[in-house]
Amino acid sequence: MITEAMRESMKNVEATRAERMGVEPKRMTAEEKDTLLKAYHPDYRENGFADIKIGPNKGQKVPAELGNLLNSNSRILNEKIDLGKVDYEADVLVIGGGGAGASAAIEAHEAGANVIMVTKLRIGDANTMMAEGGIQAADKENDSPVQHYLDAFGGGHFAARPELLKRLVMEAPDAIKWLNELGVMFDKDADGRMVTTHGGGTSRKRMHACKDYSGAEIMRTLRDEVLNRDIPVVEFTAAVELIKDDKGQAAGAVLLNMETGDYMVAKAKTVIIATGGAGRLHYQNFPTSNHYGATADGLVMGYRAGATLLYQETIQYHPTGVAYPSQIFGALVTEKVRSLGAMLINADGEAFMHPLETRDVSAASIIRECSDRGKGVETPLGSGVWLDTPMIEILGGEGTIEKRIPAMLRMYLNYDIDMRKEPILIYPTLHYQNGGLEIGGEGFTKAIDNLLVAGEAVGGIHGKNRLMGNSLLDIIVFGRNAGKAAAQKAKKTKLGTLNLDHVVQYAEELKKAGVEADNISPLLLPQYARHER
Ligand code: FUM
Repeated sequence: MITEAMRESMKNVEATRAERMGVEPKRMTAEEKDTLLKAYHPDYRENGFADIKIGPNKGQKVPAELGNLLNSNSRILNEKIDLGKVDYEADVLVIGGGGAGASAAIEAHEAGANVIMVTKLRIGDANTMMAEGGIQAADKENDSPVQHYLDAFGGGHFAARPELLKRLVMEAPDAIKWLNELGVMFDKDADGRMVTTHGGGTSRKRMHACKDYSGAEIMRTLRDEVLNRDIPVVEFTAAVELIKDDKGQAAGAVLLNMETGDYMVAKAKTVIIATGGAGRLHYQNFPTSNHYGATADGLVMGYRAGATLLYQETIQYHPTGVAYPSQIFGALVTEKVRSLGAMLINADGEAFMHPLETRDVSAASIIRECSDRGKGVETPLGSGVWLDTPMIEILGGEGTIEKRIPAMLRMYLNYDIDMRKEPILIYPTLHYQNGGLEIGGEGFTKAIDNLLVAGEAVGGIHGKNRLMGNSLLDIIVFGRNAGKAAAQKAKKTKLGTLNLDHVVQYAEELKKAGVEADNISPLLLPQYARHER
């Protein structure tokens, strides 16, 4: 139920709307942003982090929940896994059933490889499916990949790995063309040209979208393509540990049947980790916009096998998660709402920031408004600020919300909130891991031969903060590349004897470091999952 205080504050938003229309709030200076981030962004809090105790990133900071998983023993440490009994064999093993995994599988198959996908839930049960606002690509006359690079490099605090970001932006136009040809129904104008909008931190309108369910539309298309090609997809089957051979190459994975609890062996000449993010670890107790399966499994498996992590301590809190109603607390309110003109407004009706600052800056600014400035609106589960959605209808004309962001409209109408007529309450939600496993430009990890990573499990593409629409892009660009590279590498690979020595060594190192590894990892399902069979 909407509270009296919320209703009163909503009146302030309505009262200032007319005078706010057409007045663009000031952008922050670089210094102002820096000060704001250090004071209010959750990445800068003292609590909520732990040290990695062993392995190549030993001593580095990591969110406490991920640290706990890295400082845990393997699920199979005390299991007898018979590596001589191979249940699945392939040239390319893709772990993960989201957009990166599907893109990789399609391209590996296209290159003639024998591919198999394993996924702990179903194909498409992934963050890709939940992506809303769009996918960036500099494919209009007034834009260029260089411009795209500069936006993303600055937005990521100049920390992106240049060879990765260059690939991302250079291959973006082809990624859109590929998706379009596969059948993705992008928004187009009457002349058939793609409709593009701004996102936070973009200097050109390069966000291509399928209304506000871009990820679902892209995933639908990729899934159809995987199934049409008869690529084997083993569902409800989690990879729980990588397998190596006696030359140290990745050589497959131990799989867990999520329904029966039985372990199996998949042997492969190359392995692609495409397991996605970590939102369901709920860092610092934030709610999340992420899919149920986002539990950092790939990071844990890769790290235990010897791969290095990069920027694992930097997390993206999407500025606009649902703050009210409580039933959808933390769900994503797409940045496209702000691209279409909605402003961020505090409890007193003031536009306290430009609505399209980069995400880390926007999130920090909202947190400041709700904490030290005392200008947040109290909600049943905390507090939030207003996103003045009726502005979209005033600026774009009646019907704009229904046409451009119909899923948002429907989501709120389910709770009797008509965002065309009243503003909505938002607060930052855990959305994306900026960091992940370190790769080179071709998608291979630097530490383990024949192991590739694609999608959100990669660290370094975006630096320390990602711009909107560059994640749907990276799953396609790096997914496709990983598939092609893995297929080529498989042709030249001869596997030796399989082993799981690294699992035992990791446990010994933990013990030596004095770590009480009471838990097991990877987690596979969130802590609050019902584990019944
Ligand atoms: O706001 C959004 O629609 C999210 C997009 C993204 O994370 O790229």
